[in-house]
Amino acid sequence: MSARIISVANRKGGVSKTTTGLFLATSLALNKGKKVIYLDCDSQASAYEYRQFEKNMELYQSTPPPYRILKKDPAFLFDEIQDYEKEYDMIFIDIPRFTLGKDDKMIISILAMCDSVLIPIKSGELDNLSTLGFVRMIEAIREHKQEKGRPYQYAGFLSMTGKRPTDDKDARSFVKDLGIPLLKHELRDVRELSNPYTYESLLNKGKAEKERFEAFFNEFIQFFNF
Ligand SMILES: Nc1ncnc2c1ncn2[C@@H]1O[C@H](COP(=O)(O)OP(=O)(O)O)[C@@H](O)[C@H]1O
Ligand SMILES: [Mg+2]
Repeated sequence: MSARIISVANRKGGVSKTTTGLFLATSLALNKGKKVIYLDCDSQASAYEYRQFEKNMELYQSTPPPYRILKKDPAFLFDEIQDYEKEYDMIFIDIPRFTLGKDDKMIISILAMCDSVLIPIKSGELDNLSTLGFVRMIEAIREHKQEKGRPYQYAGFLSMTGKRPTDDKDARSFVKDLGIPLLKHELRDVRELSNPYTYESLLNKGKAEKERFEAFFNEFIQFFNF
């Protein structure tokens, strides 16, 4: 069977793309028994670095990491993706940083490799504007895929709390105007739970962490049919 390919993606930096992607990848590997690989195409390679940090902390002395995180040059992704599709159930792609207009083609080709895109949305006006351009890009990909009869799903979720009290309401009405599906559950303030890590699932950690994450995780699985 061919792998499902997902990206937790937005044009915006610092909206919890990597953190959310890692938490989801870890739970899919450890709680759903999926064979996962995480391809880090971001030049800052923060997912890859998290894993290196964990290895240096000797967290893996008794158990191996639950899935591989590889640093990937986006230029070669298209050439290599088929190899991973054969070997894995789930491929996560952490997309490169990009400027709308300038790097559109590269990003479109990466996001068109995916069948699922989860879009973290941070409350706040300026953040919303760059999300708008990104969503238009995703919609164009979906249209193309539809013509070819290929499945393509996307949904937004609220990933971070804004600074102003009205930010939240604004973010919700912004998403409504965009016309994209919004997951009911949020995944916010993950930091309060713990630092991002890849070796232990939030579902196995503690009652509070589990409660915080489980509803979001279940909705995510259901929405994308993983
Ligand atoms: N849901 C969250 N709530 C609060 N802080 C978060 C959340 N997700 C991530 N962070 C923190 O925000 C920063 C950016 O997160 P990151 O996942 O690296 O974003 P991105 O990959 O979109 O650039 C990190 O310092 C991370 O620890
Ligand atoms: Mg990142």
